[in-house]
Amino acid sequence: MIRPVDLVADIGEILVPEAHIQAKVAELGARISADYTDRQLTLVSVLKGSLPFMADLMRAITIPVRIDLMEVSSYGGTATESSGLVRILKDLSASIEREDVLIVEDIVDTGLTLNYLIRYLRGKNPATLRICTLLDKPARRLVDIPIDYVGFTIPDQFVVGYGLDYGEVYRNLRFVGVLKPEVYSEPA
Ligand code: PRP
Repeated sequence: MIRPVDLVADIGEILVPEAHIQAKVAELGARISADYTDRQLTLVSVLKGSLPFMADLMRAITIPVRIDLMEVSSYGGTATESSGLVRILKDLSASIEREDVLIVEDIVDTGLTLNYLIRYLRGKNPATLRICTLLDKPARRLVDIPIDYVGFTIPDQFVVGYGLDYGEVYRNLRFVGVLKPEVYSEPA
């Protein structure tokens, strides 16, 4: 993919503006802080997409938390379609046994990534395992995933920004936007 000159020029529509994201992150942080008072909360960020959300959410949480990072990647699919095959590129760095674990994701699309991760992390015997995602795209779900905290439910459009990429680009946009179709109809 040719790296774009102007990231914003490739956006057809801003779906979730920066101010809405920040307000939602504050709301989620307050809810999580209340729900996990006196618990042993570990946030597990699923890289790379969840990086900005994780960074903002952890600072909106007011109770003590540990953080850990996993990097997973679906493979065998295309730039816009996940395949359901998940590869762990970076595993947890510490035990989560008897911890209250909250998985932090940027988006749940087909649900295949989380379906794999939930089974994987359950095998490490956390006390509880719940899910927080900034974006939920239920129209594309292939497996039923119980999501405990959802920022925004979005329509079936190809979105980038605030962590989400196309061809590894656009993650640093401060909002979530819909990529112009002509951008991803070009060979990635
Ligand atoms: C994206 C996203 C989720 C997953 C959601 O990750 O961050 O982890 O896809 O899709 P699904 O519900 O259809 O499985 P991706 O594999 O693109 O890696 P990235 O976070 O590094 O962009």
